[in-house]
Amino acid sequence: MRRKITVVGAGNVGGTLAQRLAERNYADLVLIDVVEGLPQGKALDLLQAGPVVGYDCNIVGSNHYEDTAKSDIVIITSGVARKPGMTRDDLLYTNMEIIKSVTQNIVKFSPNCMIIMVSNPLDAMAQLAFHVSHFPKNRVMGMAGVLDTARFRTFLAQEAKVSVTDTYSFVLGGHGDTMVPLPRYSTVAGVPIPELFPKETIERLVQRTRDGGAEIVKHLKTGSAFYAPSAAVAQMVDALVYDQKKILPCAAYLEGEYGINGFYVGVPAKLGKNGVEEVVEFKLSKEETAALKKSADSVKELVELMLTKMK
Ligand code: 2OP
Repeated sequence: MRRKITVVGAGNVGGTLAQRLAERNYADLVLIDVVEGLPQGKALDLLQAGPVVGYDCNIVGSNHYEDTAKSDIVIITSGVARKPGMTRDDLLYTNMEIIKSVTQNIVKFSPNCMIIMVSNPLDAMAQLAFHVSHFPKNRVMGMAGVLDTARFRTFLAQEAKVSVTDTYSFVLGGHGDTMVPLPRYSTVAGVPIPELFPKETIERLVQRTRDGGAEIVKHLKTGSAFYAPSAAVAQMVDALVYDQKKILPCAAYLEGEYGINGFYVGVPAKLGKNGVEEVVEFKLSKEETAALKKSADSVKELVELMLTKMK
């Protein structure tokens, strides 16, 4: 039997993600959105690309959650994106209502699924889905570390004038202005970058990574990034589908790891068929620990605002 994957939200991230997953051909897909016609049109278009590209999965576009029933994996991309000048946190109150209702619907029809959160503010929305779904923590995760890491790797490769495939890096913390790129665990051809670049260069690349989403919002003016975000989600879905046990930085619920308790924050997580199978604890320096704590505190602040508003 074929797997079933639902993508909630047929906007730029959802539509592009559906394309990436269709081209992998490992699951039937449902694309769902509140806007009538949008998911149906994109699904049909994607289906008609199948004969040319060579995939034969079924792709359904719908406005009804009944069609998502018995999904194995659900990726939530719904909600509004930021406009120039906004932070991801500015989206909290608008998106929390949307994500709450999406999660309730998902749980109703797919009680055994795995949820990957993509909507912003990402860590708080992952926490909301965890809270509303009552799923075990391994089955609810958030995307952003893979995206932030990809941005850091892109800038590292440009600076070193090498292929991006020669770079490796980890970006931890919340998906926001306080995210924590880790230079000590970032390498070019296996060499840690503090041995390759002066401090000022690393600081510049770190800051550009932190501002990576905003830089794109500024260019696009009417929306945010979607090619790299959808690629990042697809890498996480691959890890689940193929039971890869791949260590990817993503938002995971922490219960004491890294000294953080009761919150979703970006950490290295081992992803396999059971979702987040383990939070991997790197040894962090005092400064790195403090930066991660600061980032977790800003997630905590958002979560508390959200929970108060929901009462
Ligand atoms: C980004 O960083 C949309 O949060 C997403 O581009």
